[in-house]
Amino acid sequence: MRQIVLAGNWKMHKTQAETREFFAGFLPQLASLDPARQVILCVPFTDLAAALEATANTAAVSIGAQNVHWEEQGAFTGEISAAMLKELGIAYAIVGHSERREYFGDTDQTVNQRLRAAQSSGLTPILCVGESKATRDAGETEAWIFRQLQQDLVGVDQSNLIVAYEPIWAIGTGATCEAAEANRIIGLIRGKLNHPDVPIQYGGSVKPGNIDEIMAQPEIDGVLVGGASLTPDGFARIVNYQIPVEA
Ligand code: 13P
Repeated sequence: MRQIVLAGNWKMHKTQAETREFFAGFLPQLASLDPARQVILCVPFTDLAAALEATANTAAVSIGAQNVHWEEQGAFTGEISAAMLKELGIAYAIVGHSERREYFGDTDQTVNQRLRAAQSSGLTPILCVGESKATRDAGETEAWIFRQLQQDLVGVDQSNLIVAYEPIWAIGTGATCEAAEANRIIGLIRGKLNHPDVPIQYGGSVKPGNIDEIMAQPEIDGVLVGGASLTPDGFARIVNYQIPVEA
């Protein structure tokens, strides 16, 4: 069965003090969280320890990193290995976010290396794929995503994987992808995977105001949330989404 996975990606936001403040406001709002829902906060490396400490007694919430290097150790100034994350107690790592691909030189080859390194240390990677506006306008969305999947997933164990469909044009813009279109693309992504239980998330301007509609889509197993995961009330509303009951 596919798990429901609701993840926040804080990107480069929050100090340790702000991390503690977030969880002090967020955790009390999980009192009636549906136990079928897994909540993950992917925080900056410097906030991992504070986030782990704050959530130590909260089984519903796991902590993730936002990137992981592919080598076990070595002369890679500024990088963090999977074993370093695992030792801390980290369970997840985002890999191949479009911001890493665009600003920090990640390619499908390095994304593939990161995915395999994460898995070999026992982390569950969250692989991000998605097209730019230019690719969508050119009618090449499907081909673009299929190529990303084909190259990124070589040798990757799909029984220990989450995929996030994040159309780049919808990230941080307020221009959410229509829920039905996100559902369609996610269905196509599922058709390219070789394991039936890979949770596939949607990401891109997910907010309290659109989460219910997004999660009502049958193919969408969760969300990867940027800006709206930064406030305790906003992210609490997202993880406590409600699917309208059909009359
Ligand atoms: P926003 O929710 O801010 O659009 O960011 C989405 C994202 O990039 C999550 O990884």
